[in-house]
Amino acid sequence: MTAEEAATLIKNDDNVGFSGFTAAGCAKAVPVALAERAKAEHAAGRPFKIGMFTGASTGDSIDGALARANAIKFRTPYQSSLDLRNAINAQEVPYFDMHLSHLTPMLRHGFLGKIDTAIIEASDVTENGEIVLTSSVGITPTICRVAEKIIVEVNQRHPKALRGVHDFYIPKDQPQREAIPVYRPSDRAGLPYIKVDPAKIVAIVETDLPDETGAFAPVDEITAKIGDNVANFLVGELKAGHIPKEFLPVQSGVGNIANAVLAAMGENKSIPMFEVYTEVIQDAVIALMKSDRVSFASGCSFTVSNPVMDELYSNLDIFKPKLLLRSQEMSNHPEIIRRLGLIATNTALEADIFGNVNSTHVLGTKMMNGIGGSGDFTRNAYLSIFVTPSVAKGTSISAIVPMVSHLDHNEHSVNILITEQGVADLRGKSPIQRAHTIIENCVHPEYKQLLRDYLKLGSGHTPHNLRACFEFHNAFSDTKDMRNVDWSKFR
Ligand code: COA
Repeated sequence: MTAEEAATLIKNDDNVGFSGFTAAGCAKAVPVALAERAKAEHAAGRPFKIGMFTGASTGDSIDGALARANAIKFRTPYQSSLDLRNAINAQEVPYFDMHLSHLTPMLRHGFLGKIDTAIIEASDVTENGEIVLTSSVGITPTICRVAEKIIVEVNQRHPKALRGVHDFYIPKDQPQREAIPVYRPSDRAGLPYIKVDPAKIVAIVETDLPDETGAFAPVDEITAKIGDNVANFLVGELKAGHIPKEFLPVQSGVGNIANAVLAAMGENKSIPMFEVYTEVIQDAVIALMKSDRVSFASGCSFTVSNPVMDELYSNLDIFKPKLLLRSQEMSNHPEIIRRLGLIATNTALEADIFGNVNSTHVLGTKMMNGIGGSGDFTRNAYLSIFVTPSVAKGTSISAIVPMVSHLDHNEHSVNILITEQGVADLRGKSPIQRAHTIIENCVHPEYKQLLRDYLKLGSGHTPHNLRACFEFHNAFSDTKDMRNVDWSKFR
């Protein structure tokens, strides 16, 4: 049927689960039709909002279109849409930011209510209910299981030969849970298709729409320096025997810095060819495969720019044996992350001098995107690294502050902090030792003395001054520059 006809199967107040992870593998036609339907209902004076479960962020056709149509009753677990972010921060959309690996078990346990409809994108669906997905897996195996009905967008842009790229495995519920049989990034645990009762499929809509993934920013001076600092640090760890000579699988977060870090690791020939066990497989991973620097990549999505996607699909016979897509419950599973011994690198918005990290809230109150998988990886990795430029908005914001204005990753999980200024190895250090290491190695020169002075205002094991700890933020909100902080009144 048409997308418009399929959209009429969703009722006001329904909960909908969407396929996709980032913009990769998202349904694109039915959500736009749904947004139009919501607008028409609102114009007729009737309410129309849906609850939304997704894998992570989505394309504009889901989060953007539905936010602009004022059609969102609640949203979880991660987003990066400007329109949705504005609605969340205006308190118009209730948003539940959560670890990505937690969502599907919580859905199966019924903690988050029922799912009425799953709207998913597939490359193929058979008469007997075998569904092969497209460029991501996300939460789709679970929403297909728990939803009452399923709407499938069959997208002809994705070749049917994708069958075999995916590994669909849902762990058994406790107390029957068994060890997850993934001992290497390339190990498979389940089936190459999702099997559903065909009677649950209430609509099939044909499309040919490309993923709405944007292009990555070119590596600039700052991101290149951060990438080099990460690569050089890892070479040092290798030489010290802290990382085995065959190296360990790598996880790398979302965005431009993560892309630059992977590129720098690829360029540094003191690092051997490595495997990737991550959430998003970005452009840099495909480039490193082509140059024989990455031997295998397991992830949750191909979040690649359109030219890279075209290249991948044109050479699928070459890439297919080296790629695997899994659900986020598997790509981010603590058991697997700990067993494989991942080297995890994620991006901080803000860190404090004691090693706590804020990944989500700009200046403490405004939601940026969400915690995503960063908590899943950071807490369980062999080595947990955070990267950030040392300053933002010119130099008016220091990314390193006395106390983080929101806490996502605490001092107990963060091993290494890296900026373009340098590397702070926090392992085995007391809070005061961590503070000195971070200030001297990672802080921008404009903020070093200000933070040294802050440290003298406190006492105790973790020497905070609770009256002064947010003065960087107060100075920014009063004068638009954190450097205008004045410690004299706290001495
Ligand atoms: N205070 C205020 N604003 C800050 C800031 C700070 N300390 N640090 C950065 N910013 C601003 C930047 O100036 C930029 O603003 P702009 O959009 O107006 O230019 C914005 O915050 C972030 O820039 P962006 O280009 O989006 O950064 P990024 O692509 O490197 O992403 C995160 C950084 C932290 C937002 C992103 O990595 C994220 O959402 N992480 C959490 C989830 C995660 O780690 N997932 C990976 C798990 S696999």
